[in-house]
Amino acid sequence: MITIRPAVTADLPFMAAVMNHYIETSTCTFHLEPRSPEDYAAWFRDRSDAHPVIIAESDGDAAGFAYLSPWRPREAYRRSVEGSVYVRPDRHRRGIGRALLADLIERARSLGHRTLIGGACTEAEASLALQRALGFRTVGVLKEVGCKFGRWLDVEHTQLML
Ligand SMILES: CC(C)(COP(=O)(O)OP(=O)(O)OC[C@H]1O[C@@H](n2cnc3c(N)ncnc32)[C@H](O)[C@@H]1OP(=O)(O)O)[C@@H](O)C(=O)NCCC(=O)NCCS
Repeated sequence: MITIRPAVTADLPFMAAVMNHYIETSTCTFHLEPRSPEDYAAWFRDRSDAHPVIIAESDGDAAGFAYLSPWRPREAYRRSVEGSVYVRPDRHRRGIGRALLADLIERARSLGHRTLIGGACTEAEASLALQRALGFRTVGVLKEVGCKFGRWLDVEHTQLML
């Protein structure tokens, strides 16, 4: 069974380990270097109520996390949010990403946001497939906007109206 709950400070080592794994191994995130515990603590401290972080638990422990971020800093964008979902690599394809993103969509809706923006590097097929499965539509592809592991990377943008 998968349960979803708000993240707390004690979840930071879990989130940092999952995130740093993907930073080091994958183009699903455009960070290049692992981030420190202090970086993650500062990121968590700076969250607002409009931009929650959630944890999925399955088999008795944390299996993934997701969060809303402001899409852009200018005030007129305040009802547009970006969603991010990360599931630990040994728990993929068990419905955890779907449960996290579905919960994030409902939270974004009840917080009064207007649109949820997704997207990923075009190499991140699982991420884009998950978003499409939950109703996101592709709005465009930016060519060669990232460079990681010696490759120029395209980014597909997706959007869900809430
Ligand atoms: C993307 C990610 C969150 C998916 O999590 P997950 O728990 O494995 O996904 P689920 O089991 O809930 O899958 C839900 C749906 O997503 C799609 N999907 C997930 N993984 C997929 C894959 N590897 N290939 C194709 N489709 C995939 C399918 O439509 C799937 O539905 P189905 O199982 O009924 O076919 C996970 O692969 C991950 O953490 N990847 C690395 C981080 C990342 O890319 N995050 C997104 C950055 S915003």
